[in-house]
Amino acid sequence: MNAPLVRAENVSKKFLHEGREVEILSGIDLEIAQGEMLSIVGASGAGKSTLLHLLGTLDLPTSGRIVYEGQDITHYPSAKLADFRNRSLGFVFQFHHLLPEFNACENVMMPGLIRGAKRATLQTRAESLLREVGLGHRLTHRPGELSGGEQQRVALARALVMEPKLVLADEPTGNLDSKTSEAMHALFFELNRTRGVTFLIVTHSKELAGLMPRVVHMRDGRVELDERRDVAPAPVEAAPDAADPGLAAPASDLDPSRPHG
Ligand SMILES: Nc1ncnc2c1ncn2[C@@H]1O[C@H](COP(=O)(O)OP(=O)(O)O)[C@@H](O)[C@H]1O
Ligand SMILES: [Mg+2]
Repeated sequence: MNAPLVRAENVSKKFLHEGREVEILSGIDLEIAQGEMLSIVGASGAGKSTLLHLLGTLDLPTSGRIVYEGQDITHYPSAKLADFRNRSLGFVFQFHHLLPEFNACENVMMPGLIRGAKRATLQTRAESLLREVGLGHRLTHRPGELSGGEQQRVALARALVMEPKLVLADEPTGNLDSKTSEAMHALFFELNRTRGVTFLIVTHSKELAGLMPRVVHMRDGRVELDERRDVAPAPVEAAPDAADPGLAAPASDLDPSRPHG
């Protein structure tokens, strides 16, 4: 039997606020299978971002466990956890957090550069990813020379450069107009289909939630409803200059622990 990609087990989170403990998440149980597409929805303050941070190992639960492929990673030492996060998870936030002094390609390469991966391999992969998200003609543009939607697509390519199994996105289209959002939503489904990437997307977008085969509804720090339904596969619009087939070198090429050359 295959372990789920990630499992939150009876996860709670409390914060101290003005000397008082406030429970933000209470007894969350959630399993996500490899290859799933799911959204988390709920009113502002329901605890969606807090849960995403815990699943993303950016913060620790007060109690409960976070288990990836059967491995309890909750209490990994911080360096080991950072390494796990860098290799296994990709993040997209509402604001792109691109580095303004680097161009699109360099921004996408950044997670690998930080890990000391081989530059040439990273560059090939970054360029392929940028083509996949429809930005093959914007490789050397800096963030300030890109539209909001283009910036967010660079951020998506950056999230994928280490070939993570899971991408965690927190209102990734919250800052985009509806047409640009729709193009981004189509990209999530395309990348799920072509690369098998699992997406967990916190969203207020009814359009996106409506496309999702699974929608987890949160309320007051709990899972109120875990809704699964049949949805027609999203129509996939090919990016203007999509993917050359020979792309993506195997992940091992990016492994800095392997000798280069
Ligand atoms: N570091 C923190 N300290 C205290 N309270 C926090 C902290 N982070 C979030 N909260 C509170 O937790 C609740 C849930 O926050 P959040 O997970 O950001 O909700 P959502 O993403 O669903 O809008 C909110 O009431 C917020 O004020
Ligand atoms: Mg939030």
